[in-house]
Amino acid sequence: MTQGPAAMTLRDGIADRRSVRGFLPTPVATDTLRRIAIEAARAATGGNLQPWHVDIVTGSALERLKAIMADVIANGIVEVPGYAIYPPALDGVYDQRRRAVGEALYGHLGIPREDKAARRAWFARNFALFGAPAAYFITVDRRMGPPQWADLGMYLQCLMLLALDEGLGTCAQEAWALYSVTVEGLLGTPPERMLFCGVAIGWEDKDDAANRTRSDRAPATEWLTIHD
Ligand SMILES: Cc1cc2nc3c(=O)[nH]c(=O)nc-3n(C[C@H](O)[C@H](O)[C@H](O)COP(=O)(O)O)c2cc1C
Repeated sequence: MTQGPAAMTLRDGIADRRSVRGFLPTPVATDTLRRIAIEAARAATGGNLQPWHVDIVTGSALERLKAIMADVIANGIVEVPGYAIYPPALDGVYDQRRRAVGEALYGHLGIPREDKAARRAWFARNFALFGAPAAYFITVDRRMGPPQWADLGMYLQCLMLLALDEGLGTCAQEAWALYSVTVEGLLGTPPERMLFCGVAIGWEDKDDAANRTRSDRAPATEWLTIHD
């Protein structure tokens, strides 16, 4: 993730993007965060609805969020999730793929399967944004359905690729749906909107073991059909 804008092709960006889960504390200029958010809004959307709302949180506002989340986690507070992150009873290849990336990550971190407490503690790093100096939070009108949520994904991918083009790492985080009550309260999200996800953004800490994780992709034979 060190290529500058001039060197990176779209194809390189798509191939090179990966989730970063360990950041340097070095701040990212608010102008850069704003520019990326605005440029990502060129994403296509059904009917040009552009259903996203985006909050940028950095500086003292982020410190406040992290402090509140540290208390929430330390006190074992559990909220009603904003939505179900996965279908109930996920099984088959979907469950296998989810487990595989988790095992790859915990393998690099040296946390064995039996050590549930260490795994839970590491998962809680989501709520410290893996040390990132900034975050985006994406919210959406509650009336929107699957087609518009798919549009949010278009925006998210543009956002992550534009960040990469600036030399910045990202991690999309739907884990925030577990604490959407707290996040929506802090952001002042109006009741007609709900949180989709957070996105940690910053400079990758290349010494962080979590960043050695490389996710697989299923062979195209598992999901591609050509009708010729
Ligand atoms: C919408 C969305 C939400 C995600 N939520 C989380 C999350 O809460 N925590 C996390 O560590 N990774 C999260 N991820 C990252 C995925 O685990 C990751 O994209 C996937 O394993 C593929 O790895 P890669 O991004 O490195 O290619 C999320 C990704 C997406 C697209």
